[in-house]
Amino acid sequence: MRNLLPFLVLIAVASAFGNIQTQFDGPDEVELRLLEPAVVPDPVDGVSRWWYTPSQKAHIYRHKYPKNIQAQPRQGEDLRLPGDVLPRLYNVRLLPFIEVGNWTTDGYVEIFLDCIISTVNISMNSLDLTIDPASITVTEEQTGNPISVVDFIDEQSTREIITVQVSRPLTAGKQYKITMKFISILNALLAGFYRSSYVENGETKYLAVTQFEATDARRSFPCFDEPTMKANFTVTVGRKETWTSVSNMPLITTEPIVGMPGFVWDNYQTSVTMSSYLVAFMVSEFIGIPAEPGLSNVEFSIWARPDARNLTDYARNIGPRILEFFESYYNIDYPLPKQDMAAIPDFAAGAMENWGLITYREQYLLIDPSTATARAVQLAAVVSAHELAHQWFGNLVTMDWWNALWLNEGFASYMEYIGTDAVEPDFKMNDQFIIENLQYVFGIDALETSRPINIEVNTPAEINSMFDAISYEKGSCVIRMCADIIGLETFQRGLTRYLNDNAYGNAGQDNLWAALQTQADSENVILPATVKEIMDTWTFKMGFPYVTVIRNYQTGGAVVIQNRFLLRKSNDTTDPTVYQWWVPLTYTSDYTQTKQRDWLSVDEISKSLPNLGAAANQWVIFNVDQQNYYRVAYDATNYGLIRDQLIADHQRVSANNRAQLLDDAFNLALTELIPYADALDLTLYLKYEREYVPWHAVLSELNYVDIMLYNFAEFSNWKTHMTSLVEPYYNFIGFQETQSDPHLTKYCRIDAMNWACRLGVADCVQNSLSTYANLMSQPDNLAQIVSPNEKSTILRTAIEYGGQTEYDFAFNQYKTKEDTSFLVAMCASKQATVLSGLLEMLLDPNSGILRSDVNTVFNNVANNPIGNEIALDFLINRWDDIQNALGSVYFATWYRYVCTRQNTQAGLDKLIQLRDAHSVILGNSNSVKQGIQTVESNIQWVSLNLGEIGTWLAGNQPAKTISKVIRHQ
Ligand code: BES
Ligand code: ZN
Repeated sequence: MRNLLPFLVLIAVASAFGNIQTQFDGPDEVELRLLEPAVVPDPVDGVSRWWYTPSQKAHIYRHKYPKNIQAQPRQGEDLRLPGDVLPRLYNVRLLPFIEVGNWTTDGYVEIFLDCIISTVNISMNSLDLTIDPASITVTEEQTGNPISVVDFIDEQSTREIITVQVSRPLTAGKQYKITMKFISILNALLAGFYRSSYVENGETKYLAVTQFEATDARRSFPCFDEPTMKANFTVTVGRKETWTSVSNMPLITTEPIVGMPGFVWDNYQTSVTMSSYLVAFMVSEFIGIPAEPGLSNVEFSIWARPDARNLTDYARNIGPRILEFFESYYNIDYPLPKQDMAAIPDFAAGAMENWGLITYREQYLLIDPSTATARAVQLAAVVSAHELAHQWFGNLVTMDWWNALWLNEGFASYMEYIGTDAVEPDFKMNDQFIIENLQYVFGIDALETSRPINIEVNTPAEINSMFDAISYEKGSCVIRMCADIIGLETFQRGLTRYLNDNAYGNAGQDNLWAALQTQADSENVILPATVKEIMDTWTFKMGFPYVTVIRNYQTGGAVVIQNRFLLRKSNDTTDPTVYQWWVPLTYTSDYTQTKQRDWLSVDEISKSLPNLGAAANQWVIFNVDQQNYYRVAYDATNYGLIRDQLIADHQRVSANNRAQLLDDAFNLALTELIPYADALDLTLYLKYEREYVPWHAVLSELNYVDIMLYNFAEFSNWKTHMTSLVEPYYNFIGFQETQSDPHLTKYCRIDAMNWACRLGVADCVQNSLSTYANLMSQPDNLAQIVSPNEKSTILRTAIEYGGQTEYDFAFNQYKTKEDTSFLVAMCASKQATVLSGLLEMLLDPNSGILRSDVNTVFNNVANNPIGNEIALDFLINRWDDIQNALGSVYFATWYRYVCTRQNTQAGLDKLIQLRDAHSVILGNSNSVKQGIQTVESNIQWVSLNLGEIGTWLAGNQPAKTISKVIRHQ
């Protein structure tokens, strides 16, 4: 959520130095409220075009979309510390004044230094700190002799560095101590040592907590804020006697603060050797609730505001169990005596892996089992597993610079599946990997605006932009591929080797490849090139290939070809990269046999495989279980064989590969690499498909076709086709959720109901209407009547197929309970007057629609097939009124929303006219450019594919079905 920073007023630094009672006229609650995003662009119900359809996790890290940073070589290099003195031990003492009108922290730090290269300058990072130059002392450690300070150079506002100059050069090999006093501000930026708040019994309570990654430790105390400059940290924090504090390490002693009755110092044990970005502390009125002692060897507690005590059970149960699992997986004990996890009311990221004190957004740690969706519970487990995985991978061994952030985040994004699976096997996490991570990031990495996993970064802004889907999701895919190449167990032992070799130190990706290589060699794993040579092609080049397999049915062999997969090709010929990779080929014609392996080398565009081991009438499937990071295109005959197998007995093909076949085929058809008929042929078997993963994969693809066909005559046959596929799935899963449903059955039901109701399948519509009727008679029993998993579909369907009564009830619920899902449901109405009425209400501050929900309403109306044109006309005709009522912040975003469903020349003309009429606001916006590009490719899609799809649909209509479909009123 770093993208919120521009909304914040820059914080002035208190000028009166040295006085702990400094009055700071800093930002107050008003500013805190500005932390709410002004524009919330979460697509609802996945109706946006699929390559920016977010993964189910995307909302956690909106800030992680690739920014297409072009790191300029050398730029920012002067931001690096010289490295001639390095920290060994910090004693940090902080006394935060957590009071409206003060918000200052009194600080004192002692840093014990090793001089590596003789120098008179001691440079370290510092940002927004008021340092008392008179307080700075430097002494030689051995003798205790003071060394006089001759200058203090403050470059905080430019380089985030301060330099203390001493009278004579420090000697290489000797140790020194530097000390200073400073004041910092408990800011509202959610970075450094910052303030947060919550309401308890109507009263606003405040707390102070840290968020240091990536480069914000320097906002809290002067430090050597680079990941390789590891040291030990002894933290002391002051607090009111009645409050609590917590930090990375266990508390040792508490003592009164002399001269400040009612205040005490908490002295913490010295930490293990670690990077500054992992230091953490919190001062609050929170309570710490210990987990059952039997669950792990390590003392484990969950910290939260007292009101949330009852929501900590889930975390207290899975946290220690995941920790135990990782100890055995890594084969390395957790090195600290305790692990705390804290739920923070205002938190920028999703969670943060501070060593021994993991901090979370409340929603990822505090779970109410009676109202949480299956998705929310899964997220809580996954986020915990992710952060606990970092305790080894990231904390014990840290990347040597931020260019290799993917080692931290890609690895944790891989381990979060394994760690969650260990404690919640019912979640079937390993089945979900390909849809959550792999197929999701394919959509981003297939654009020319993607980036290589490992790129040079220097400035804090560049560093922060690395926290994106490429580091996380692509990183995790590449690691999973590597594990498959050398074998899971060899990989696991190789990791232990890597962690032991580099414990309490730093490493780059070459160190990981070297450890895996040594392990592979010692276990006689044969590879066609070194692990490094293979993996470098995947980490230093952006994008990924599609492999075309052209079988020779006479010889039993095939030609395989690699090409970069791009969703759109520009004519950019300036990129000199040869987009070829070391491609691990795996294939099978029979899943009961071990898969066959071969390679395309980085120098080979294509090669012949003499014998696939399949008869001419047998199918062959490549990229077994989609373990590797590429798509596969087949010749028409092989597609036919696969289609026939799926129809005859789809279980003979693994669920992962069924999902892959569908996802690949629709993407290859979209980019004109195979005919749509081949992709659509593969859907025929779906009337027998009952599993979540293949269904979820294909529905996000079919959604695009659905949007494109909506206004054409072909839609009727499309709807019949879709109904013939979805209805058996829906009937199998059923409307009613039960307690004993497996986790993925709940997920299946969400998809099946969503589509069945949307297609008007009678059972789904009627059940939704009667459930809603029940709710109308007992509005306060929502949780008992409507499963949280089914809520959005039931509400939406009741509005879609119901009348005024249903609508009025929804509006009433929204207004009285502030439950936005009712408002979202209202936007699903199929009546034009209702939809335009909703848009009109956005202009009226007294309409009952909260200002914070204005964007949600427009987005949902624009995504509604009936509402889309209404939304466009609203933008065109009511421009001035919108501007008067809401200002200009929404225009570009709303323009973009409207474009998703537009696919005609007439629509494009209207949109261009609108842009030109308001060129000051819309002319230079990237959202507007993206929107126009989307409409252009939609139009092109229609002209290229509508005919072919229409013909296919006409020739593949299901025999007149028994299905009963309900029409809109
Ligand atoms: N190290 C990150 C937290 C972080 C993110 C710090 C961005 C600084 C900038 C943490 O391990 C993480 O990845 N958190 C995720 C949640 C996770 C489950 C994907 C996040 O915050 O989005
Ligand atoms: Zn992480």
